[in-house]
Amino acid sequence: MNFNHELLNWYLNNKRNLPWRNTTDAYVIWLSEIILQQTRVEQGMPYFNRFLEKYPTVTSFAAASEDDILKLWQGLGYYSRGRNMLKTARLVQEQYDGIFPQRYDQLIKLTGIGEYTAAAISSFSSNEARAVVDGNVYRVLARYLGIDEPINSTKGKKIFQEAANDLLNSEMPGMHNQAMMEFGAVICKPKNPGCGICPVRTGCYAFTHNAINSLPVKLNKVKVRERFFNYFLVTDSDSVLVNKRDQTDIWANMYDLPLIETTALLTPEELFNSDKVAEFFGANLKISEISPLKKHVLTHQRLYVRLITLQNKPLKLQENWFYTPVENLQKLAIPKIIFIFIKNIFNL
Ligand code: ADE
Repeated sequence: MNFNHELLNWYLNNKRNLPWRNTTDAYVIWLSEIILQQTRVEQGMPYFNRFLEKYPTVTSFAAASEDDILKLWQGLGYYSRGRNMLKTARLVQEQYDGIFPQRYDQLIKLTGIGEYTAAAISSFSSNEARAVVDGNVYRVLARYLGIDEPINSTKGKKIFQEAANDLLNSEMPGMHNQAMMEFGAVICKPKNPGCGICPVRTGCYAFTHNAINSLPVKLNKVKVRERFFNYFLVTDSDSVLVNKRDQTDIWANMYDLPLIETTALLTPEELFNSDKVAEFFGANLKISEISPLKKHVLTHQRLYVRLITLQNKPLKLQENWFYTPVENLQKLAIPKIIFIFIKNIFNL
């Protein structure tokens, strides 16, 4: 059995018709690949369509403001992707006259483009022979070839990249790469893979050695940080007190509300007796409502968010705090989890 032959045959008969597969425009491919990082196809698709409609060229993207991009990105998460895209679009506009580069060696230098994305864009747009290795490809290779080196170890990454390079179909690298990813997403899934209908199972190490559930191997090394976000909702007639976040943390440059962060869950009494609350709102706190805690899971962080509605006004406006009319909230790039709280309160 020839793996590549079976793979391509399967792909041509079973591939999903996804809009970014019908183009060789490196800008459009870049847009799709960044959106699809850490994002499922069904979730990313509407964002891809909206971005492409609003910014059909890298030149139009480069002319956008950061607020515009973050607003359109709202709800996708991992917002640094959007900020990095703007940086890259502006550089492409200036250094490449608005023509998105296609070569791996040029792409890899751009902000937000790593080995996977550079290989994807170069192979899909111009058939450069670069093998992609994403989560799908790790799984297919680990199972088919029986590689038990951890996929997130330095040694493992090297071994898997080499295995992918060796397997690459140099006649049609773009289609081969798409096929590997599609096969991993549709047949060789993490849980309940479709071994019963798999065209390459007779050659598959994991299938023939009953090792489907033990491959790929992944080291558990990320330590998850727990953060408790206590937001305060303060209104003044038809305006709401908002905060523009700074550059140095999640949701950089986006908008939220006055926040007191703690590293442990405090009872409301503990929180309200804290120095920080007194500094912001004085000693005489008038609380209308405390929402339940909402959990929000990120790759390296677990956030617990609650909203405390106050009747107080702040003693003074902290740096980055300002009042904005309620109807303006829709226009600001507010992280989705916070927007959901606010939306319900103001019926937005
Ligand atoms: N996920 C990331 N890139 C993809 C692509 N090109 N097609 C389908 N799913 C993807």
